[in-house]
Amino acid sequence: MTMTPLLRVEGLTRDFVTKKDLFGRATAKLRAVNDVSFEIAPGETLGLVGESGSGKSTTGRLVLRLDDATDGRIFFEGQEITGLRGGGLAPIRKKLQVVFQDPYSSLNPRMRVGESVGEPLSVHGVVANASERRDAVAELFRKVGLDPRFMDRFPHQFSGGQRQRIGIARAVALSPKLIVADEPITALDVSIQAQIINLFLDLQEQMGMAYLFIAHDLGMVRYLCHRVAVMLRGRIVEMGPTDQVFANPQHGYTRALISAAPIPDPDRELLRRRLPYELVPPPEGAQLAEVAPGHWVLAA
Ligand SMILES: Nc1ncnc2c1ncn2[C@@H]1O[C@H](COP(=O)(O)OP(=O)(O)O)[C@@H](O)[C@H]1O
Ligand SMILES: [Mg+2]
Repeated sequence: MTMTPLLRVEGLTRDFVTKKDLFGRATAKLRAVNDVSFEIAPGETLGLVGESGSGKSTTGRLVLRLDDATDGRIFFEGQEITGLRGGGLAPIRKKLQVVFQDPYSSLNPRMRVGESVGEPLSVHGVVANASERRDAVAELFRKVGLDPRFMDRFPHQFSGGQRQRIGIARAVALSPKLIVADEPITALDVSIQAQIINLFLDLQEQMGMAYLFIAHDLGMVRYLCHRVAVMLRGRIVEMGPTDQVFANPQHGYTRALISAAPIPDPDRELLRRRLPYELVPPPEGAQLAEVAPGHWVLAA
């Protein structure tokens, strides 16, 4: 790619200490994220999929600089942000936002939702006074399909889907370049999930931001993501354009994941067979190889 990617991570690695001796020295550690590299172009959606515990959320937190990498580098708009802290991160925070799985735990229960949505606007000095802020918040409410008259209510007065809309309004308040969405529909009723996915799509069309979309529902990934990266035990085992990965999955784990996802067509769903896959960690030192343009597979 000749254009500067919006986000580039190189060899991202995160170890967690799982056991310490009497002196507080690490005696066991878990490599939650292992040598992960990928890029996201402006306006692009990269899906990150894999079973629970494969390192998806940790990867998201590293990208957001909510956690420090053990190794590897992170570039945002060409600028290395790996070691940035505090004030150095402020301009990045504005462009890099997050939507969590559970909007209830990410919203302050004692804060009126309009305050929560408007908070980033004040923190970053985007609005000059309270009335400008109210107008901006009302506009954000409309943008995510909420009635602005509800902005003085508290989070518990909303349904799960509405709360996720509030979380999304807060995330888009500063017109970010990238949103990390960590399983943002997993906690919602199935009937609501598609609405929230469509909201993500609409907002991307209007505002042009990129998404790192963490999910385990492959159906949604297929619908929403331009490219997909499959994680297994901390490593990316396959990555490529969504159509291509679904049409021609190369890694055994990708095949197993796809075979486990229900097919919306009932005739084909009847014939679907789940492929078994033993969740063994990829061999140490295995490298990704490009099997088709942009389609990478970890060599077995
Ligand atoms: N703060 C932490 N301390 C210790 N281990 C952690 C911590 N956060 C995550 N882990 C471990 O790292 C691995 C990856 O976790 P996570 O990134 O949450 O996976 P995923 O989001 O794919 O389910 C898991 O084994 C998890 O238990
Ligand atoms: Mg997770």
